[in-house]
Amino acid sequence: MMLRKRVLVAGGAGFLGSHLCERLIERGCDVLCVDNFFTGTKDNISHLLSHPQFELMRHDITFPLYVEVDEIYNLACPASPIHYQHDPVQTTKASVIGAINLLGLAKRVGAKILQASTSEVYGDPEVHPQTEDYRGNVNPIGPRACYDEGKRCAETLFFDYYRQHRVEIRVARIFNTYGPRMHPNDGRVVSNFIVQALNGNSITVYGDGQQTRSFCYVDDLIEGFLRFMAAPSGTTGPMNLGNPTEFTILELTEAVLAKVGSDSKLEFRELPADDPTRRRPNIEQAHRVLGWEPETPLDQGLDRTIAYFRELLEEQGRNPRLVS
Ligand SMILES: NC(=O)c1ccc[n+]([C@@H]2O[C@H](COP(=O)([O-])OP(=O)(O)OC[C@H]3O[C@@H](n4cnc5c(N)ncnc54)[C@H](O)[C@@H]3O)[C@@H](O)[C@H]2O)c1
Repeated sequence: MMLRKRVLVAGGAGFLGSHLCERLIERGCDVLCVDNFFTGTKDNISHLLSHPQFELMRHDITFPLYVEVDEIYNLACPASPIHYQHDPVQTTKASVIGAINLLGLAKRVGAKILQASTSEVYGDPEVHPQTEDYRGNVNPIGPRACYDEGKRCAETLFFDYYRQHRVEIRVARIFNTYGPRMHPNDGRVVSNFIVQALNGNSITVYGDGQQTRSFCYVDDLIEGFLRFMAAPSGTTGPMNLGNPTEFTILELTEAVLAKVGSDSKLEFRELPADDPTRRRPNIEQAHRVLGWEPETPLDQGLDRTIAYFRELLEEQGRNPRLVS
């Protein structure tokens, strides 16, 4: 009998996690989705619930988990400033204690484990674009530190489990990723602009809008995850995954407004503390080691994301109870 690969996706009911679960099922894996539904929802995975290769478990990864799996993707952590600053102590716990629990599980069952780390480990970078050997410029006591330092400590734990216990690790540093199933109210820039434009509200721009970001479409990122997990033993990373094409925030507002066909006005607000002014990945390592680079142009990715939010808002209009 051919056994299917058993894959645990922690944070599987979230934005990235739900897309990952889908892709793993398509590849023939048995997927165990673990989530405490802090920011993720059952709606994101409702289409998978009756699938025979899919299983859902409500669980908080700050508590130990005993399951038999071959691979683990750790995505369980609130990802947007609004959510991770809501309960900063819990955010650090999710990153640090969550990593210890899942690394312990990986060690016990001999599973490979991928950590969804972040470009935030570079803080407000003084080096541009960011290569993986850049050690970052993070304020350890600021309002973003619960997330940035939590993720940095998780990386430390991953490499210590690798050196000390020979656990097969993969550390992916994800840069801004967008697409359908982003949370509509979490203040992330792409979803924020789209929802504001669709609702005819003014578009909130922090700072003067000249700060740049690079935006990776979700399908491209998930392809990067899968290739990274499948890479030869010892391919630990850390590895940047993201789109190196840089846009200013103002360019993004123009693209969104044109696509939505909205005449919303821009409303400029003060830049939040420690907000990085420039952020762009150097993805040479991912290209060389995984043969990976993003393929979806912003134009196409925005079309798909706008279509998703248009439908979501129409549904919420029909059933206001769905608005959260
Ligand atoms: N989307 C991006 O642009 C981006 C960029 C960098 C890093 N990341 C990382 O990727 C991962 C997924 O991000 P996302 O954008 O899908 O965010 P998301 O908020 O949609 O997903 C996170 C998921 O983890 C769950 N979760 C949170 N704490 C948990 C806990 N203690 N136990 C179990 N589940 C828990 C949430 O309910 C949610 O379903 C996060 O770790 C995030 O830090 C994302």
